[in-house]
Amino acid sequence: MDLFSAIEARRATKHFSSDDRVSEADFERIMRAVLLSPTSYNIQHWRFVRVTDPQQRLRIQEAAWGQSQITEAAELIILCADTQAWRDNPQRYWANTRAEVQAVMLPMLEAFYEGKEQLQRDEALRSCGMAAQTLMLAAKALGYDSCPMIGFDSEQVADIINLPPGHLISMVITVGKASKPANPRAGQLSLNEVLLENRF
Ligand SMILES: Cc1cc2nc3c(=O)[nH]c(=O)nc-3n(C[C@H](O)[C@H](O)[C@H](O)COP(=O)(O)O)c2cc1C
Repeated sequence: MDLFSAIEARRATKHFSSDDRVSEADFERIMRAVLLSPTSYNIQHWRFVRVTDPQQRLRIQEAAWGQSQITEAAELIILCADTQAWRDNPQRYWANTRAEVQAVMLPMLEAFYEGKEQLQRDEALRSCGMAAQTLMLAAKALGYDSCPMIGFDSEQVADIINLPPGHLISMVITVGKASKPANPRAGQLSLNEVLLENRF
């Protein structure tokens, strides 16, 4: 499926067929595509928790007010991020670049993030947003449906997955095959309303 078709066909799927699986080859292909998403300073804050344990799925579903996608979808991926990734051995983010480039980037990165907790958190969320859209479009391109979700109690889910200190949960994404077509789009704002030229 070409990119524009995938963008148009992707919908937030509410009902998944629990009989359909995502093949390991497809899952890996999707996740390898996700790793190519852009991040500031190439920090790649994301950490993905693939939940395969049915009991754990049930516990997450309880924390998500019973939303059926959580247990029906073939895959449940929790998009987490390390807000401290900016200082976790950052040389590895430019491992393939020349030493001179690394020598410039490292102090620049430290000065940019040091002491700025809100920015550290914003960046982690931005990175996950980039990953999320890649994940859903890559899944669609391979014929799978998805649903991005924040409708859950983050603290409970953090507890269930042993989220380490300094990490956050950005969202959950379910992937599988829809068992019902999505409702018509609820209503897109017009381009005129959201596209501005030069300033507000
Ligand atoms: C960050 C985020 C969180 C969402 N959380 C939920 C959710 O918890 N449950 C749900 O059914 N849909 C959820 N949605 C889906 C949105 O309702 C849906 O994307 C929106 O209505 C537009 O519909 P579309 O994705 O089919 O175009 C979420 C979407 C995003 C981007």
